[in-house]
Amino acid sequence: MPQPETSLMNRLVSLCKRRGFVYPASEIYGGLNGFWDFGPLGTQLKNNIRDAWWRDMVDCPPIGPDGQPVSIVGIDTSIIQHPKTWEASGHLSGFADLMVDCKESKKRYRADHINVFEVTMRDEDKEEKARLFFSYVEPEQLNEIVAGLIKRTKKDSQYYLSFERHPRNDSEKYCREEGLANNFLSKIQSDFILIERPFTALNAEEQAKVIGPDAKNAGTLTEPRSFNLMFNSYVGVFQNEESKVYLRPETAQGIFLQYKNVLDTSRVKPPFGIAQVGKSFRNEVTPRNFIFRTREFEQMEMEFFVPPEDGMKWYEFWVAERLRWWGEMGLSKANIFRHEIGDGDRAFYSAATADIEYKYPFTDPNFGELEGVAYRTDYDLKQHQTFSKTNLEYIDQEAKTRYLPHVIEPAAGLTRGVLALLCEAYQYDESRASPEWLKLKPSLAPIKAGIFPLVNKDGMPEVAEKLFMDLRKTHTCQYDAKQSIGKRYARMDEAGTPFCITIDGDTLTSQNVTIRNRDTAQQEKVALDQVKSYLSTKLS
Ligand code: GAP
Repeated sequence: MPQPETSLMNRLVSLCKRRGFVYPASEIYGGLNGFWDFGPLGTQLKNNIRDAWWRDMVDCPPIGPDGQPVSIVGIDTSIIQHPKTWEASGHLSGFADLMVDCKESKKRYRADHINVFEVTMRDEDKEEKARLFFSYVEPEQLNEIVAGLIKRTKKDSQYYLSFERHPRNDSEKYCREEGLANNFLSKIQSDFILIERPFTALNAEEQAKVIGPDAKNAGTLTEPRSFNLMFNSYVGVFQNEESKVYLRPETAQGIFLQYKNVLDTSRVKPPFGIAQVGKSFRNEVTPRNFIFRTREFEQMEMEFFVPPEDGMKWYEFWVAERLRWWGEMGLSKANIFRHEIGDGDRAFYSAATADIEYKYPFTDPNFGELEGVAYRTDYDLKQHQTFSKTNLEYIDQEAKTRYLPHVIEPAAGLTRGVLALLCEAYQYDESRASPEWLKLKPSLAPIKAGIFPLVNKDGMPEVAEKLFMDLRKTHTCQYDAKQSIGKRYARMDEAGTPFCITIDGDTLTSQNVTIRNRDTAQQEKVALDQVKSYLSTKLS
């Protein structure tokens, strides 16, 4: 099937705008970097994913390892909490990225995203002749770099050329060009000894020789400086250190603060979970890739409190369960990946962490984070217990013991989930009325059925309107009588609507309607009075 020239991501972003899934925020003022708004279809899709998560977490949680349904309750806590919350959680001191500014390009980079190549050139006798430092480059710069490299070698001077290395999970540029970069490297590797080093591993003297990723001159990068990701504001009339508050960077902490109240006021005891969906805010340094990494986003988090000795068992349970769930939402097995985070890369308090990753178009062939499942031990409760001086232990009356429960946390991005499901759903087929269409899981589709009178006369609109008035009570439907039937199908395909119901001349005599299936484009006759149950069965 021929594919258009434009990249899949560009096509998806433009479809989202055109059909009202996602718009740039504050667009009439030129937009605001890192902020996006959800349009009518996008909001409905996001709500459907959120509702599915809530249903499968809170209303009808999965069956646990002991064969019994697990117990989870839902809460909704404030975005702004007491500032001590963030001291205790570690966000105030630790939730910061080391940043490097470039005085020449005026760009800012995460220090751990800058890598430098250190090159040692050898002569024919393999003796070291000169040491050079260079970076990953754009293809068109290749010749220039090679020429510069030779020139610099002759001068016998030392440079580090740096490049911005994004984590493999969200770098469009790095992943796309990786093949080429490797090619380039292998070409020169025969003549050079090449060592790749993180910028942060260089001493100050060496750092001063680095040519920034977007700079021409050496020594324009500053030393790494700490930059906290939390947005702040002030409560009350006076704006000073005492009135300073923070917008939550995760929904999780609100759960920890209310864990004791929930324990005391609900009929729960470990193992049990508290779930929450809501907005989080991070002043991300490099928001990128559409709604993948934004400064305002939504999370679906659940903290599962268990007796300490059962921690690993529940960790394994939740990783498997969350992988299964995303599959059920429509992500194909080939596109989801369990990435076990190694000892050195985990938060210091985490006994185990697995990222559930998705193969986004901009990470392909690699994967990027969609959800993290972390075994957080008793770190958070212990911290809040210390900082608040409130005993947060669970008292097990039956066993006559008391303990701080351990916590397993499946933390998913809701807005990121919308992106993953849109990427998965996006189809391109030139033989269809609308080459671009969305193969969303029917129960998640923003509109479940389009209802069309074939023509706007001969009694058809009346029957179609009556059917619409009936179906709208149970399903999100759209009545559409404008333009040709092909154009109406095309509009519904782009919106991901799984069923189109047409009332035609035959309906008036035989009482049958024609239902077109989005995925197969096949049509079938269904009795008018059976349409509701047909939809309910197909959408359940
Ligand atoms: N309470 C743990 C926690 O917040 P996280 O890995 O930082 O963990 C969980 O976030 C999920 O939230 C991520 O897997 C991702 O889906 C989503 N997320 C995090 N930062 C985001 C951002 N800037 N934009 C969109 N989604 C984000």
